[in-house]
Amino acid sequence: MSKAQLSFVLLAVAVYCLTVSPAAGLHHIVGGSIGWTVPPNVTYFQDWAQKKVIGVGDKLLFPFRSPLHNIVEVGTQDDFDHCTQNALVDIYTTGPFMINYTAPGDHYYFSGIGKQCESGLKLHVTVVNGKGSSGRILPPPVTPAADVAVQTLAAPAPAPAA
Ligand SMILES: *[C@@H]1O[C@H](CO)[C@@H](O)[C@H](O)[C@H]1NC(C)=O
Ligand SMILES: *[C@@H]1O[C@H](CO)[C@@H](O)[C@H](O)[C@H]1NC(C)=O
Repeated sequence: MSKAQLSFVLLAVAVYCLTVSPAAGLHHIVGGSIGWTVPPNVTYFQDWAQKKVIGVGDKLLFPFRSPLHNIVEVGTQDDFDHCTQNALVDIYTTGPFMINYTAPGDHYYFSGIGKQCESGLKLHVTVVNGKGSSGRILPPPVTPAADVAVQTLAAPAPAPAA
């Protein structure tokens, strides 16, 4: 493959990544390996959420088996803190359940089964305007590739085998 062809391929990959990935959004799987189940400690889901950025266009998947757990969405931090449903938004009873975010904002979820909320099965997410991040140390290879391709294309074409 010639240098020009390689540049073109890199550019195509970069353009593909730039246009396709943000539009598709990220799939966040709530709770990581344990899913939406009663966690080992009460800060588990808070810790999970802290490592993520959830952007508009991202999806949140709650992996759980009904009727062992459910998702109660409430509209206030107060309800969330006290596991109460004064400002009930909705109850999702069928798992696994996926939510698509189309707007920024705060969302409060907990399990309404037994004392699971008190045991830490609760999640507060803040959806931001912009791109989400899974929080993994996975710097997008997209940016360097794009830079290389653009630089190569912008530079005066070097004489082959100079
Ligand atoms: C809660 O549990 C998770 C997973 O076992 C662990 O990584 C985390 O350090 C724990 N947090 C506290 C405050 O014990
Ligand atoms: C969320 O998006 C996915 C794929 O884009 C779609 O299959 C699913 O039906 C959507 N769910 C809701 C609740 O809109």
